[in-house]
Amino acid sequence: MEGSVRRLSIYFLASSLALIGLAAATATALTGPQAVETRKNRYRELGAAFKSINDQAKSGTLIKVMLRTSGRTITAVARDQYQWFPVASGPAAGISTKAKSTIWSDSAGFKLAQGNFQRQADLMAQAIDAGQLDQIQRQAKALGQTCSACHRSFREE
Ligand code: HEC
Repeated sequence: MEGSVRRLSIYFLASSLALIGLAAATATALTGPQAVETRKNRYRELGAAFKSINDQAKSGTLIKVMLRTSGRTITAVARDQYQWFPVASGPAAGISTKAKSTIWSDSAGFKLAQGNFQRQADLMAQAIDAGQLDQIQRQAKALGQTCSACHRSFREE
């Protein structure tokens, strides 16, 4: 009995370590085309999550479980976005992307835009936790401004 519990924990330990290894590998080893694919998919999820929050903020009917799910999607994108722009994922022959080359020529400006977004994403999650409609409305606006600020400078129309 004890032996099988121990075997089971070793099994879980081993599989967790394998998963951590896998996560670390994918975080550092995205090729250009993989990075483009990843960011497009994650930005689409981000768009859907943000739309859901905006719809609720506009209608005035808050559905907490949905808001929380959207909030988690947004903070996860904010945390992961830094991995998605290896140099080889810029506008080049064979890669279909709206990312502008200014992302790499003005990388300080791009990092700033990413940081602003992450800060407002965290505040969005806090507003969702607090659950006050007016705060959620204000924060959705502030968050939305960080999307458009980045798109204006770093994404093709
Ligand atoms: C720091 C910069 C930055 C921020 C902040 C940002 N985006 Fe984007 N977004 C981009 C770039 C760059 C692309 C183009 C990606 C590509 O084509 O490779 C993009 C693409 C998108 C797309 C299109 C994905 C597709 O290809 O179908 C959507 C939707 C989107 N963003 C929504 C949002 C929303 C909503 C927010 C804010 C909640 C946001 N983005 C914040 C840089 C940003």
